[in-house]
Amino acid sequence: MVLRTQLPGWQAVEAQAEAMKSMHMKDLFASDAERFNKFSLSLPSMLFDYSKNLVDESTMAALFNLARECELENWREKMFSGERINITEDRSVLHVALRNRSDDALMVDGVNVRAQVKAELNKMRSFTNTVRSGDWKGYTGKSITDVVSIGVGGSNLGPQMTTEALKSYGDGTLKVHYVSNVDGNQIADVLAPLNPETVLFVVSSKTFTTSETMTNANTAVTWFLDAATDKAAIAKHFVAVSTNTEKVTEFGIDAENIFDMWDWVGGRFSLWSAIGLPIALYLGFEQFVELLDGAHLVDNHFEQAPLEENVPVIMALLSLWNCTFLGAQSQAILPYDQPLHRLTAYLQQAEMESNGKHVNMAGEVVPYPTVPTIWGEIGINGQHAFYQYLHQSNNIVPADFIGSVESVANVNGHHDILMANFFAQSEAMMTGVTEDEIRADLASKGHSQAYIDNVAPHKVHEGNRPTNTILMDKLEPKTMGMLIALYEHKIFTQGILLDICSFDQWGVELGKGLANRIHSEIASNQVSPHHDSSTASLVRYYNDKK
Ligand code: F6P
Repeated sequence: MVLRTQLPGWQAVEAQAEAMKSMHMKDLFASDAERFNKFSLSLPSMLFDYSKNLVDESTMAALFNLARECELENWREKMFSGERINITEDRSVLHVALRNRSDDALMVDGVNVRAQVKAELNKMRSFTNTVRSGDWKGYTGKSITDVVSIGVGGSNLGPQMTTEALKSYGDGTLKVHYVSNVDGNQIADVLAPLNPETVLFVVSSKTFTTSETMTNANTAVTWFLDAATDKAAIAKHFVAVSTNTEKVTEFGIDAENIFDMWDWVGGRFSLWSAIGLPIALYLGFEQFVELLDGAHLVDNHFEQAPLEENVPVIMALLSLWNCTFLGAQSQAILPYDQPLHRLTAYLQQAEMESNGKHVNMAGEVVPYPTVPTIWGEIGINGQHAFYQYLHQSNNIVPADFIGSVESVANVNGHHDILMANFFAQSEAMMTGVTEDEIRADLASKGHSQAYIDNVAPHKVHEGNRPTNTILMDKLEPKTMGMLIALYEHKIFTQGILLDICSFDQWGVELGKGLANRIHSEIASNQVSPHHDSSTASLVRYYNDKK
């Protein structure tokens, strides 16, 4: 198996990196009036500007060439056609099928996936409409007022992030609450103000074996039965989304109340399936469909646009360029749109669970860093927290700035102030300010030479820090669908470039298994002699004190 590093295209990009390291973006802008036009792309209702990266046309050509050598187009085709590209779990990867509402058949293992998706969407539509209209009655004949979604990881982050992002598009018919943590504080807080007669629980778990989710679901049943007393009432207040019908039925949820998903939907790509039911319940089914349509528009773009004009492909190539070739170790996600305040958490799972791996498809340890650490915060809050580091630390952190032309809630000129900061920050990260400029500025303000000598070096900003800007017309269901799908395809492309299986998550399993064992040791108060002395002592300390 040829390692990526042995590809001529990889070596050509390395040579580019050597050449570009001595350049400053400021000079690249100064010498090319067309730079923005060359390095930006438009999608419907969205602009993507990547001109503030340390690239020129030959860098981009080398990166596109590498993508072709990695057979990106071929892999993309395999994904869209349902080939089993999740090689360690032997599964197709078909979240794109969840937002394709066309009638063309897509056969996987002799089954028409499109028909399955359509049937489930119809079931979601009818259920959503019944609950939202008030026709779905609880055990005392009252309509539902509150939905509690129980799930974790991919069965929580996507729906919760999207519900928050589109909060102002809800009509207030239903309140939706999310419980993901096994820390009892969360479920206790959520349940405390609720009335069991008017609550609907959606238990979302692809496997229906995730212990945190099952613990929360059991607590919800106990809380509910404390009031309802009759187990038959569960059918009116609990629905499940899962691939594991057997486990759901065993748990006590009515077969009628099970929404299906399939093993070809990865957890972290599942908000488009019935895992998105809480979003649909909150927004209404029509707006959920707009979300799907936005994602589908980007699917078509990703599938059909040449690599040179393909936004998610360029996002992935730049991530590879900045991190693997230029050495950045992390990547900041900086949304300047308050409703997107959970986006970074969502992308942490999406990117890091997908590509935080150390071996290639053939199982060989790769000799390069893979996905960077993803972190970040809502723009303005971040500015008053860690932007000092973004501007002046000696670690370069490439950043994605995400904002909107129109604010969802336009309050008295706030948005222009927000956006002035949005534009200023990426400009400052790119241009920086030299010591000569600082000295001249301080001198013009009449400061003493001693003061200037003392302060000037501290005010230097080297600049040359890469950023992308994603500017939406407005955050709404369709653009939200587009935004998420852009990152999903970026992640796919990154996986191919890095030669990584992006669709498994073995790294989560080790800790899960150990936690189960330690839980039994806590319950029996018998600490296994097989632990290291630190773990054994910590568990004993806990057991003795509790
Ligand atoms: O956190 C690990 C993980 O396996 C994720 O990949 C998944 O989204 C999450 O657990 C929840 O899994 P499930 O939907 O099966 O409960």
